[in-house]
This record gives sequence, C-alpha cells and structure tokens, in this order.
Amino acid sequence: ATTLGAAAAQSGRYFGTAIAAGRLGDSAYTTIAAREFNMVTPENEMKPDATEPQQNQFNFTAGDQIYNWATSHGMRVRGHTLAWHSQQPGWMQSLSGTALRNAMINHIQKVMAHYQGKLAYWDVVNEAFNEDGSRRQSNLQGTGNDWIEVAFRTARAADPSTKLCYNDYNIENWSYAKTQGVYNMVKDFKSRGVPIDCVGLQTHFTGGSSLPSNFQTTLSSFAALGVDVALTEADVTNASTTQYGGLTQACVNVPRCVGITVWGVRDSDSWRSSESPLLFDGSGNKKAAYTSVLNALNSA
Ligand code: G3I
Repeated sequence: ATTLGAAAAQSGRYFGTAIAAGRLGDSAYTTIAAREFNMVTPENEMKPDATEPQQNQFNFTAGDQIYNWATSHGMRVRGHTLAWHSQQPGWMQSLSGTALRNAMINHIQKVMAHYQGKLAYWDVVNEAFNEDGSRRQSNLQGTGNDWIEVAFRTARAADPSTKLCYNDYNIENWSYAKTQGVYNMVKDFKSRGVPIDCVGLQTHFTGGSSLPSNFQTTLSSFAALGVDVALTEADVTNASTTQYGGLTQACVNVPRCVGITVWGVRDSDSWRSSESPLLFDGSGNKKAAYTSVLNALNSA
C-alpha cells in the first residue's frame, strides 16, 4: 500500500496522527492528514481544561470540530484524556479530597456521555507514574490510591462501547522501573476485574538511533496480560529512520499492537518542532523516516 493508513490496515491496524483544531483551516495540513491517516487524536481539545473550563460547564466545540472532521474523512478517533495531573482547569487545580474525587467522576461521566458510542478508544488516565515506578503525587493521587481504578470503573459504566486505555511516556524500556510500575498496576487490575482494555505507550523517543531496550518485549508482555497495546504519541529526535522503522516493526510483530499514532503531521506542527521529529517536513514533503515506517507496515 502507498499510504500509512492503508498499509497499516492490511494487518488490521490503524495509523493515526494528533490533530490540532486550530490547524484545520490549513489545506496543506488537512490534505496530508486526510490522505495518510485513519485515526485521529485531538492534541489538546478533549483535555479537561478544554472540555470543562468552569466546573460542570462543558465545552465540546473544539473537540467536536476534530471529531466531525475526522469522521467526515472516514477516520476514527481516540479520546485524550479524561484524568491527568496536567492541563487541569484552574478550578480543578484548587480542589482536593472528596470534592476533587467527585469532580473527576462527574467529568468522566459527562464527557463520555457527550461522545457516547463515538470514540474507538479513550485515554482514561494519563501519566500517573513517576520515573521510579511509584505513583505521581498529584492532587488526584491525593484523593486516595484507588483513584485510577475508580476512573476506569466510572468510564466503563459511562460508555461500555469504547476501549479504555492507560497512557504514559517512558514505559517503552522493559527494564525501566516506571515500565514495571505500570505493568504491575495493569496486572493487578486484570486480576481483580478492574476494567482496562489497553495500554498506550507514548513513544516520545530522544537521541540515538536504537530503540529502548527490549521494546518489543514490553509490548508483548503487556499484551500477555490481556490488553491491547498501542504507540500513542510517537515522535523521534531528528526522525531517526532506524528508530522509526524499529518502533513500527516492533508493533507489527506483536499481534495485540493495534496501531501507531504520530504526535503531529509536519515537523512545524510538533510540540518538539526544533527536533524535526515527525514524518513530514515543514513543506509537507515525506522524509526518509516515512519510507522506513511504510516499508515496515507493508512487511506485516
Ligand atoms: O491555545 C493557547 C494559546 O491561546 C496561547 O496564546 C498560547 C500561549 O502559550 O498557548 C496555547 O496553548 C498551548 C497549547 O499547547 C496549544 O498550542 C499551551 O500553552 C501548551 O501548553 C499546550 O501544549 C500541549 C502540551 O501537551 C501540554 O501539556 C501540546 O500542544 C501537546 O502536544 C502536548 O501533548 C502531550 C500529551 O497530551 C500527553 N503526553 C505528552 C505530550 C507532549 O507534551
């Protein structure tokens, strides 16, 4: 196949991108996005500060704009994200204890009700672990160590049709403490029947040309717990062709790796634009890494 989405679809996978609502008026951007990808993650528009700017007053304008653009081009959507220590609206940042716990539950219920039956996946909880494998000491963690499972149980009840994911960065290296911390949480959730369907590995790679150690082992180990895995925010310093080819090959080698999302379309669209980490340059030309990704998808 000659596009990323079509190549991924040959093995039942998707290939996605982050989309920013503010760029939907840029036809160079939308032309590439509509041609190459078949999954979309709103880069900021479904985060708590965007969807609930005042407590219990919801705003889905920008999220809906992306959802409508994506579905009108035959693409599916990953929701991102419902419970996170970052990009909380001001009112939420100042809450704690029972008031914050109840606000989190209400947020999940109302946002998921709006998108009920529409999204392929939701990142229910984002980035809840420290690098040493312990829980991040956020205001959400301060509401009690069970806050993550409460978020997942609330999410399952709110929309049983969507797959519920835990999403994090620096969990690609199997011998890293944070990876093991997340793995142990997922194992515990599966053993106790806490509803979780997938783990998102953000895959923000920096430096070098080789993959983090045992990356494929990490994917297959999570999958063996009975969850799907996905690479959810891939970008790579200077778009190393070996890293891009390798991360794609690792996914296609693992049956439960359901898809790959890159965190933006062109280098100029990236949160790390000075590192030129994406598959298209600022003029919209395919980079060498594009070919290494496409070839790996076509080899599946
Ligand atoms: O929209 C405002 C604009 O009105 C204002 O003038 C401008 C001034 O700073 O800020 C704009 O908002 C920025 C927003 O991106 C939209 O561009 C925020 O400041 C900026 O903080 C925000 O950054 C986002 C970042 O998450 C925030 O945590 C990035 O776009 C987004 O790519 C990034 O994505 C995260 C994932 O959600 C989770 N994993 C890591 C990943 C990279 O940091």
